[in-house]
Amino acid sequence: MRTKPTLTWTPEGEPAPRTTDLAEVERVLSEGDVVVLSGAGLSTESGIPDYRGEEGSLRRHTPMTYQEFVTSEEGRRRYWARSHLGWRTIARARPNAGHRAVAALRAHGFVSGVITQNVDGLHQSAGTAPVIDLHGSLDRVVCLGCRRTSAREALDRRLRAANPSFAAATTRINPDGDVDLADEMVREFRLVSCVACGSGVLKPDVVFFGENVPRDRVERCYRTVDEGRALLVLGSSLTVMSGLRFVRHAARSGKPVLIVNKGQTRGDAHAQVRVDLPLGKALTELTGRLGCS
Ligand code: APR
Ligand code: ZN
Repeated sequence: MRTKPTLTWTPEGEPAPRTTDLAEVERVLSEGDVVVLSGAGLSTESGIPDYRGEEGSLRRHTPMTYQEFVTSEEGRRRYWARSHLGWRTIARARPNAGHRAVAALRAHGFVSGVITQNVDGLHQSAGTAPVIDLHGSLDRVVCLGCRRTSAREALDRRLRAANPSFAAATTRINPDGDVDLADEMVREFRLVSCVACGSGVLKPDVVFFGENVPRDRVERCYRTVDEGRALLVLGSSLTVMSGLRFVRHAARSGKPVLIVNKGQTRGDAHAQVRVDLPLGKALTELTGRLGCS
């Protein structure tokens, strides 16, 4: 069964109180073994917009769905043309102070596991390992025919060779790694297929809207949450069930849930503390206080 894409969420009732005081987050972290669940808000300070924040991409752009990608060659052409241009920006993006702080917290044992909903690889670039890429990663490509995965860089070279004069004045990048592009530009774009099987359709190895996260990956996340003492959400509106389920699970298991995020989230009712601060600043402050900056 495929889930219907959840694009937005409308808060109901009184918002839960939020604070700018980091004391409780510091206290829980100081006891160690906290699991981080990060979202697009952690990468905005690296120049990649989020989906639903103040300047979120969903305000101006409807992302490709899995159904459209697999059923429509036109849809795939549009996706790859836009993504081909957007990839440069994603590949060039550097981790920010927030990613570096998570790496330091992980290295010192304050954090025991990192689950990210982001597909930009910036936790890994900051030196965090291992990371569970819940929604996959833009640096890999999967063949829908033979299921083999390959490096995005290799595909990038092939797409450049197939489209030597393809360049466009692009508008802003989206967190999915694509850009907005005029239809006439899309029509010129030439697709390539899988080199391993010769004919398979290539898809970025990310979970599209309307696609389910592979079951074993979800199980790995549940285990990571179970092994931790608390769950710390960083920069996610928790709109999609894919991330929210771990918050609900942690809360049901009696584990503290802490959220650092600008604005309300769909998981607020499950959290014991909600800190409303920019992540670079907040996480740098925390590593300083915990002596691991
Ligand atoms: N500091 C703190 N919070 C921030 C910052 C920042 N610098 N920048 C943005 N935020 C907050 C936004 O206000 C917003 O509440 O981060 C949150 C990001 O939420 P979303 O844009 O909804 O991103 P995310 O929760 O990661 O989305 C989950 O939904 O669209 C799908 O598959 C996609 O992985 C994605 C999933
Ligand atoms: Zn193949």
